[in-house]
Amino acid sequence: MTNTYYPEAKLDRCWWRDGVVYQIYPRSFADSNGDGIGDLKGIIAKLDYLADLGVAAIWLSPINPSPDRDFGYDVADYLGVDPKYGTLDDYKELLRQAHARDIRVILDLVLNHTSTDHPWFIASKESRDNPYSDFYLWRDGKNGAKPNNWLSCFDQATGWEYVPARGQYYFHMFVKEQADLNWRNPKVYAEMMNVFRFWADLGTDGFRLDVFNVWFKDESFRSNPFKIGDYIPFHWQKHVHDIDQPEMEKAVRDIREILDGYPERYVVGETFYPEPWKLRRYSGEDKLHAAFDFDFTHCKHDPEAFRKIIRKTEENAGDRLWPTYVSNNHDVRRSASRYASDEDDERLKIHAALVILLRGTPYIYYGEEIGQRETNVPRAKLMDPVGKRFWPINKGRDGCRAPMQWNNQTNAGFSNGTPWNALHPDYETRNVSAMIHDPRSLRSFYKRMISLRRQYRVFQVGSLSLLDERNNSVLTFKREFSGRSAYVLLNFSADPAAVSIPGVTPESEFEEKVSNMAIAEFNAGGEIVLMGNQALILIGK
Ligand code: NOJ
Repeated sequence: MTNTYYPEAKLDRCWWRDGVVYQIYPRSFADSNGDGIGDLKGIIAKLDYLADLGVAAIWLSPINPSPDRDFGYDVADYLGVDPKYGTLDDYKELLRQAHARDIRVILDLVLNHTSTDHPWFIASKESRDNPYSDFYLWRDGKNGAKPNNWLSCFDQATGWEYVPARGQYYFHMFVKEQADLNWRNPKVYAEMMNVFRFWADLGTDGFRLDVFNVWFKDESFRSNPFKIGDYIPFHWQKHVHDIDQPEMEKAVRDIREILDGYPERYVVGETFYPEPWKLRRYSGEDKLHAAFDFDFTHCKHDPEAFRKIIRKTEENAGDRLWPTYVSNNHDVRRSASRYASDEDDERLKIHAALVILLRGTPYIYYGEEIGQRETNVPRAKLMDPVGKRFWPINKGRDGCRAPMQWNNQTNAGFSNGTPWNALHPDYETRNVSAMIHDPRSLRSFYKRMISLRRQYRVFQVGSLSLLDERNNSVLTFKREFSGRSAYVLLNFSADPAAVSIPGVTPESEFEEKVSNMAIAEFNAGGEIVLMGNQALILIGK
């Protein structure tokens, strides 16, 4: 199938459609003051590095004040910056310096729940009649039992926590220190909309919405029906009353209306339990610009498995939506450890070309460009509530949040103090300094792919079609725009493999041919023969 639509078609340039977004986990990127925790000044110091890589935007995982029960995803003040990351002035400086380098800034907004340290919750839990008493989901117990069967997906199974001062329970879908807000309360709704205005007024270019589709819960608090699940109790229910409530459709429109009042703003939703119908329901012209789908993060290294996802994504996007592609984030095992079994990075170049040259916004995660591996965090050192709760079946997310590996010096150049999280021991050889000037490094390949996307409209907005769809080794796709065709050939196998592309012959002329290996040759049968793990990009004239 071939989609020819692209959003904002009237615009020659559209940063979130054309460019690559780079996710930074602020705790782990660069520490400027030696306290072992990354900070905003550290990020500012690395903006030249990011500009050199060629990214269009950075997305910062939450920088708001947080007691870190869920490492920033438990916010104690929506309008502030956590002192461990710096000040609001530092943030303004980050915006100024990023914009000077043509880099946009996306903030992570965690609006489903606040920290139980948030002043609203501290007031709310005191009594049933204070100005904040209805800011959260408070319910009476039912004959000595919990108000209903809703669950927490982290931590304890039940989502209800009893507070003696009120003689009531509050609901939390994540850890008990993350109390879910009552989005049906107009005062809460107004506060939430205000959060967008506050940060947009400062010049923030975009927002990533944490689990946005769980903001509303069933008005009459009906219990969820039962279903068979896995080791996570949360998966033993059909989440018909605590996820995807109809009221969310108005909320995404209201958010879009606010952001459309500012030039060139963007909002992407983190869909909880993403499914095609959810992306259609929540994103589009007058809704979110995009909603994440995480299928790549658990896809095996197999061309057909990826083709399936791409087909589904294209079909779902149709001529209305703009896809996103994500191989890594702060919640999943790093792709370098999923796809490479040793220190060889060639396979990872296949994945880099795939994510960056598809039709949709590519998201890359700090360290992905140097093939940073997952760290192995022993049980005694786990900090992530998910790892603590579900170890050993799920070892949690500390391992994908390790400090960035800048060089082979003390603490990988991340910090002069003791890093908050364990470094990967391979930093002495695997680091930015070792790779940045090596034209064959993974980092150089990422930069090259990003530069192709920046240079050629065909990669930004061109239509996409899969070719040679029965090939078990090679994933091939074609992009087309305004008379130009580009072909991306990715050999997933370690052995040589041949591909035939209709219309492409030894006589075909190309504007550019780019590869991680020597440019491939044709065989006598007119097929292109790729070496094992070769990525080949042919850009037509
Ligand atoms: C999704 C975030 O990506 C994750 O890191 C967080 O723990 C939960 N939402 C709760 O906010």
